[in-house]
Amino acid sequence: MSFEAQSFLSSVAHRLRASEIRELLKLLDHPEMISFAGGLPNPAAFPRDAIQEVVGHVMTSHAAEALQYGPTEGHHRLRRAIAGGMGARYGAPQEVDNILITTGSQQALSLLAQIVLDPGDSVFTANPTYLGALLTFNAASSRVEGIACDEQGLIPEALERRIDELAAAGARAKLLYLVPTFDNPTGVTMPEDRRRRVYEIACERELLIAEDDPYGLLRYDGKNVPLLKSIDTEGRVAYLGTFSKILAPGFRVGWLAADPLLIRKAVLAKQAQDLCTTTFSQYCIFEIIHDNALFPHIERIKSIYRAKRDLMLRAAERMLPREVRFSRPEGGLFLWVELPPELDALALLPKAMDRGVAYVIGRPFFTDDSGRNTFRMNFSYASDDRIEEGVRRLAEVIAAALEDSRAIERPDRIGIF
Ligand SMILES: Cc1ncc(COP(=O)(O)O)c(C=O)c1O
Repeated sequence: MSFEAQSFLSSVAHRLRASEIRELLKLLDHPEMISFAGGLPNPAAFPRDAIQEVVGHVMTSHAAEALQYGPTEGHHRLRRAIAGGMGARYGAPQEVDNILITTGSQQALSLLAQIVLDPGDSVFTANPTYLGALLTFNAASSRVEGIACDEQGLIPEALERRIDELAAAGARAKLLYLVPTFDNPTGVTMPEDRRRRVYEIACERELLIAEDDPYGLLRYDGKNVPLLKSIDTEGRVAYLGTFSKILAPGFRVGWLAADPLLIRKAVLAKQAQDLCTTTFSQYCIFEIIHDNALFPHIERIKSIYRAKRDLMLRAAERMLPREVRFSRPEGGLFLWVELPPELDALALLPKAMDRGVAYVIGRPFFTDDSGRNTFRMNFSYASDDRIEEGVRRLAEVIAAALEDSRAIERPDRIGIF
């Protein structure tokens, strides 16, 4: 008998499917392709010299510890620096015991899901929301309840309505997952009054909030909005932070700032996953913070990304057909585009890629199969000169598709009759 790997798969493994986005991204390797698809920082924005210097320093001064296993909770001095930084930078001061260093914030979310959610438990998310969160909740066998959004993010009344509906059916959701600042995929930032209302609802209806915040420090203009974590007076908000977008994702260092019991349980769950986050990365990042080099670096990348966002917005305003709507984010890495409802972003993608430009379709970010006419454009990765060219090509593809769809609606225009 031959070996049949399929027959060994768990029910979770059966549910895991390659995302459409990841499959499409494989086609982006072509050097001529102008990619607005990924969510990647620009390699030119990595502080190579500073990193080279700290790597040298860590190797000469801390090699014995930095090359060793470390505590599951994380490098103590880094935890202390993060706890202090959350107070100084975010108005959300933490004790060291509230901080767990994780392998990227993706692991923080996965640990949180593991210690909070039983199979079949419901999780509220914005609709649309970050695809990686949907993958995590799918792997945790959770039921995802996508809540309607407007241009200010998740709509509190829609959340309350859904909580009532679930309660009437004898069900309860435990977790509300949000990317309230410069959302992925929409770029939207939830204003302060709405944050306060959402927090109130979470208190009244006994929800734990997961505030995922990879982009919060990448603000290019406008006023800072307080974190949910800084509004929180009860430890109800579990905050997910990361160095991926402000330093380099290759370090794979993020953190969870949460109630000490959640941290203790997450530590135990993490021991079963990877024992500890890469010690070497943690030492390097600590040294960068200790040298006061992190925030000047963030200012530098903000000026790079602000210019790229402006280039993309100006090109979109000038070139995209009038019927196309797009967000104007004050920070983060993404523009969100809404085509007229008769256009399908997936059907358009091969045509765009034939013209050498790529985006990520919006539909996989939705929890209910809607959003066929939406897509996400990343502005951080492409070089400045290619941003305008990419938008020009995209505008031509969309204009041609609009022309076609009108011709189908009004066949007389093409003289069939
Ligand atoms: C909203 C959101 N959360 C989490 C992550 C994962 O970040 P990390 O590299 O820290 O795992 C991303 C990455 O793009 C993201 O956009």
